[in-house]
Amino acid sequence: MLCMVLTGRTIEENLQQVATNRPYLSLVELRLDLLAEGEADKAVEFPTLIDLPVILTCRRHSDGGAYRGAEKERLALLQRVSQGKFAYIDLEDDLKRGAFEEQLRQRKVEIIRSYHDFEKIPADFFHRAAKIAARGEIPKLAVTPTSISDLITLFRSQQELADIQQKIIVGMGEYGVPARILYKRLGSMLSYCSNDAIAPGQLTAQIMSELYRSEQVDQQTKIFGVIGNPISQTNSPHIHNPALQAIKFNAIYVPFLVDSVRSFFALAELLPISGFSVTVPFKQAILPYLGKITREVKHIGSCNTVVRSKNLWSGTNTDYYGFVEPLLDAIEAKTLQSALVVGAGGAARAVVWALRNYGCKVTILNRTLEKAKQLASETMSAYDTLENAHLYHGVDLVVQTTTVGMAGDVAGDPIPSFIFSGREIFYELIYKPRETELLRRAVEAEASIVYGIEMLLRQAKLQFEAFSGYHYPKWVQPYQEH
Ligand code: ATR
Repeated sequence: MLCMVLTGRTIEENLQQVATNRPYLSLVELRLDLLAEGEADKAVEFPTLIDLPVILTCRRHSDGGAYRGAEKERLALLQRVSQGKFAYIDLEDDLKRGAFEEQLRQRKVEIIRSYHDFEKIPADFFHRAAKIAARGEIPKLAVTPTSISDLITLFRSQQELADIQQKIIVGMGEYGVPARILYKRLGSMLSYCSNDAIAPGQLTAQIMSELYRSEQVDQQTKIFGVIGNPISQTNSPHIHNPALQAIKFNAIYVPFLVDSVRSFFALAELLPISGFSVTVPFKQAILPYLGKITREVKHIGSCNTVVRSKNLWSGTNTDYYGFVEPLLDAIEAKTLQSALVVGAGGAARAVVWALRNYGCKVTILNRTLEKAKQLASETMSAYDTLENAHLYHGVDLVVQTTTVGMAGDVAGDPIPSFIFSGREIFYELIYKPRETELLRRAVEAEASIVYGIEMLLRQAKLQFEAFSGYHYPKWVQPYQEH
């Protein structure tokens, strides 16, 4: 069940939030602490105004809520409003149980007993849940994993707390996002969403339902994902999930913030995970864990795609082919004889190896000359400084692989001295922003342009084939929130 936390200041605003998200929701949580003065007392009627079960709560400031008044008044308010037709009431684990709970039981209102920890997963996590359940209440543990090994603890709930039919487990913060999306695989009866990420890491109802289809995850669902650090900017779920859905493959693709590759493999065994994309900074760190790698991975020294094949983790590099594909016509026409590659990092390695394998003469320019020299010696290429870029006027292809010009540095140009003749192909690997300063100059000179988004999509589509065994459907577009 997907439960939307209503964040309106008034009952009217909350009704509006329900109306716009109605198709995605199984229930809602009404938070008295978020309502403006005078609105809380109207809340008694709220459950009769909508056709969904409602959880009633009034969250204290210390539990991440907005209620700062006296505890006695908070409980009095909850008791008054709870006379309405609420399906559940959420009360904190440190409250003394008494007559209020007895009344609720008699009225068949279910009690969710909640415990929040915004810093960690407490050592007594499983024990606490079991103790609450033993009292006939629904345990709700909203805790904060701060590593992949913490996330493993959360996913172990499925086995450790298997006897508890109704329970709510929430992983807050960025490490907890996979637990929110895959809540069914923890055995949690619901996952929370909201319009305003009212709790850390919370996603909107639309993203949970349309992009991830969390509700449809079952025990057979294959789990794929992307690992990186940071990971919040990734576009990969938007590319893979719509395609998995389009071919009716029972699978989901989830972003994982990762602190340790070793722990991630332990999580991958537990869930299990069937395959994953690898992004910055793990493309090299992943290599020692792979049982099988392709020739490209070996040469490039980096891997961006891992799939489980039988008992082995097997690594490929789709950046390599994703990069080359837009150039194949020029390669075939033999108009691609010389290239200037700007940068000598991980991305440049795939680019230079690919170009060399197709017989193109390459010069690598880099800020740190030593790195350019190293890559040049491995690939029988030439190298030079960024400042000498103007000497290479007239090359067939210029590839920009550095981070200069990315969002945050949009005015940056790694080779200001280079003048485009207009006859070259200019290939920019940055896709955010779509137009870097250097690309703008290339357009102005009427060079042919290959945009970063093309390589991104092509490498992702090749990954999709590796994961699913099917071609990326031609009619599918990456998911966009509307
Ligand atoms: P990726 O895997 O995306 O290629 P990387 O391996 O960190 O990332 O490589 C970043 C590239 O951008 C390198 O070539 C780097 O130059 P150095 O080798 O000298 O570090 C280049 N780069 C980053 N910031 C730069 C800057 N301000 N000016 C010039 N080059 C820069």
